[in-house]
Amino acid sequence: MKPISSIAKGIAPSATVAVDTLAKQMKADGIDVIGFGAGEPDFPTPDSIKVAAIKAISDNQTRYTPAAGIVPLRNAICQWMKREYGVDYQPSQICVSSGAKHNVFIALQAICNPGDEVILPAPYWVTYEESIKMTGGVPVVINTTEQTRFKVTPEMLEQVITPKTKALILTNPSNPTGMLYSKQELEAIAQVVLKHDLYVISDEIYDKLVYVGEFTCFATLGEEIKQRTITINGASKSFAMTGWRIGFAAANEEISKAMANYLSHSTGNPCSVSQYAALEAYSTQEDLLTKMQLAYARRRKYFLERIKKLKDVSCLEPDGAFYIFMNIKGLLGRTIQGVTINSSADFAQALLEKGLVAVVPGEAFGAPGYVRWSYATSMENIREGLDRLEKFLSE
Ligand SMILES: Cc1ncc(COP(=O)(O)O)c(C=O)c1O
Repeated sequence: MKPISSIAKGIAPSATVAVDTLAKQMKADGIDVIGFGAGEPDFPTPDSIKVAAIKAISDNQTRYTPAAGIVPLRNAICQWMKREYGVDYQPSQICVSSGAKHNVFIALQAICNPGDEVILPAPYWVTYEESIKMTGGVPVVINTTEQTRFKVTPEMLEQVITPKTKALILTNPSNPTGMLYSKQELEAIAQVVLKHDLYVISDEIYDKLVYVGEFTCFATLGEEIKQRTITINGASKSFAMTGWRIGFAAANEEISKAMANYLSHSTGNPCSVSQYAALEAYSTQEDLLTKMQLAYARRRKYFLERIKKLKDVSCLEPDGAFYIFMNIKGLLGRTIQGVTINSSADFAQALLEKGLVAVVPGEAFGAPGYVRWSYATSMENIREGLDRLEKFLSE
């Protein structure tokens, strides 16, 4: 048989999905594992959103829609962007798709030619690197460290920019580190972007989950920046709607049209019922956010207090999102419960097998020596999970 596509052969499965699937399977098999792998709100989708979806079904909103989403939803998203950040978009500049993950993929398809370089600051969300590769693009990874709070600086960018550089991917606040860029930091990056005429894919899906500092939407940094920015956002995290699969991108007309064309030939359109649910979310759901923000803030605080008391592991205090990015370098070379820990992957595996706690190894985010814990899970789980970690480390 002829070989399958060489691009496809080079694509790794999502490590976060793999950890979550494994933890769920272990649970289904009766093993009492606690999963910290998934970046998924543990809150149910609010009732009014579910009711809007049920109404959409009753009203027979069950047919194909425009590829980039129904106009009322794109309108609601424009109004939401205006209300939240004072930035103006027309509905034709909004592409609703089947989750922000798909928006990232389509955005890269829209701007990259094969061989184009895309700058990806590490630690990065698992999907970016593979999405760049799926376009035939070349990920150019910048390894940031705790010294700059895992943030990329203009100097770091200047060092890797070549004539082939097409775009920069920014995640703010970050998955997996939870770090937030200040307005000044973003302005400094924006200058480099303009100097080298780059596109920016600004993934702002955690914009509403900020505990320290103030979030700045990258597209608000001036008209020239707005023209070059593809803002990615979606309903999954802010409205506890992961399974509904609704994300959106806001971009200039040319890019949004190209993205819509891709959508028209791939998914066709995002699920019609989910779009009506999202319409309700973007029009009305402020209460849920406040409730979730408070819960995440409490969990974050508790997590940090517990980690401070542990030996050999540490973490920077995250500003936003719902992740703790734990430095486990102090454990490397040690034997814990009969297992020699030579990498964060070893650590994650041993913690899962011996401690019955699932976390994602930093290798998945281009950052060996770390593991990611999601605190989008109940306080009871967090308490028990950290008790288990403590026990695992002490034996
Ligand atoms: C940074 C980032 N962007 C995008 C997504 C994808 O979100 P969605 O569920 O809308 O595909 C995630 C989900 O984990 C994420 O962490």
